[in-house]
Amino acid sequence: MDTIHPADKSSGFSLPLDPNAIKIAIIGANGQLGSDLVRAFKNTEHEIVPLTHADIDVTDLRSSGEILRNIQPEAVLNCAAYVRVDDAEEFADKAFAVNALGARNTALICSDLNSILVHISTDYVFDGRKTEPYTEEDTPNPLNVYGNSKLAGEYFIRNILEKYYIIRSSSLFGIAGASGKGGNFVETMIKKARSGEEIKVVDDMVMSPTYTRDAADMIRRTLVKELPYGMYHVANTGQCSWYEFAGTIFETLGIKADLSPIKTNALKSKAKRPMYSSLVSMKLKKHGLEMENWEGALKNYLIEKEYLNERL
Ligand SMILES: NC(=O)c1ccc[n+]([C@@H]2O[C@H](COP(=O)([O-])OP(=O)(O)OC[C@H]3O[C@@H](n4cnc5c(N)ncnc54)[C@H](OP(=O)(O)O)[C@@H]3O)[C@@H](O)[C@H]2O)c1
Repeated sequence: MDTIHPADKSSGFSLPLDPNAIKIAIIGANGQLGSDLVRAFKNTEHEIVPLTHADIDVTDLRSSGEILRNIQPEAVLNCAAYVRVDDAEEFADKAFAVNALGARNTALICSDLNSILVHISTDYVFDGRKTEPYTEEDTPNPLNVYGNSKLAGEYFIRNILEKYYIIRSSSLFGIAGASGKGGNFVETMIKKARSGEEIKVVDDMVMSPTYTRDAADMIRRTLVKELPYGMYHVANTGQCSWYEFAGTIFETLGIKADLSPIKTNALKSKAKRPMYSSLVSMKLKKHGLEMENWEGALKNYLIEKEYLNERL
C-alpha cells in the first residue's frame, strides 16, 4: 500500500503541507474510475492512499475496518464494485456482498472514523421508463440484480451516514478499462473494426457515455468544494444510443467499420437493462459546475490514448 504525500519530494512533490489538505483513501484504486480518481488528486495538496482489492476487501468488515483505522482518512472514496451485470443475475450473492454489504461496511467504518464517504453508484438503479434525463430527484426502480445491489448499497449509506456523497454515473469509458468487464466499449469497438469484424450494436438503448477522467475531476471538485452532502449525478452531458456512440467513435477516427444496428431483445442478455438511462445533474448546475458533453469527452479520450491528435 503506497501513500502519495504532497510533501514527499521523492514523489516529485515539493509543496508545503496545506492546512486544508485532507487524507483520502481510494478503494478500488486500480479500477477504471478509481485509477482516474488517483490521477485527479495526485497533484493537489491532498494526501491520497490508493487501495486495490489486494489491499482491502470491502466485504470483510473487520479487516477493512482495521486497514482504514490505521490510515485515519478524512475521506474514503469507494469505487469497489461487482460490475458484471449479466453474471450478477446468477451470482446475486457476490453482487450483493460487494455492492450492498461492502457499501454498508464502508459506511459503518466511516461513521466510526467520522470520515466523509464518497460512494459510486449507477444509472442502472432506474427502470428506463422516462424519456428525458434522470435527475437526482427521480425514483429508482432497478430492473436487474446489479441495479438492486447498487441501490441497496445507496440505502445502507443513507441510513448510516450524514457525511456522504453518493455519485451516480453511467456507461464509463476510461484509460484503465473496467477491470470487472475486461476493457471498455470504445476499445472493444476499435479492436473489432480493425480486425474487420461485422459489428452489431443496439440502437434502442440510450444512455450518457461518460469519460472517467471527467467524472473523477467532478468528484474531486464536489469533495474539495464541500458541496452539500447527498446524491449527485455525474455524467457527461447529452445522450445517444450505443449504436450512435459506436458510429461516432468510427467517424471521429476515420475508421471504416462494418457497423449495423440491432435491437436489444435480439441479444437475449441474461440481465434486463433500462432502455433509457441518461443522467443529468440539477444539483451540480446550482453550484456552477457542469460536465463536458459526451462527444467532447470521447474526443479527449481518443487524444489521450493518442489515437487522435489535437489538430483533428
Ligand atoms: N463501468 C460502468 O460502465 C459503470 C457505469 C455506472 C456506474 N459504475 C460504477 O462505477 C464504479 C467503478 O466502476 P469501474 O467501471 O471503474 O469498475 P472496475 O474497473 O471493475 O473497478 C472496480 C474495482 O473494485 C475492485 N473490487 C472488486 N471487489 C472488491 C472488493 N470486494 N473489495 C475491494 N475492491 C474490490 C476491483 O478490483 P479487482 O478487479 O482486482 O477485483 C476494481 O479495482 C462502480 O461502483 C460501478 O458500479 C460503472
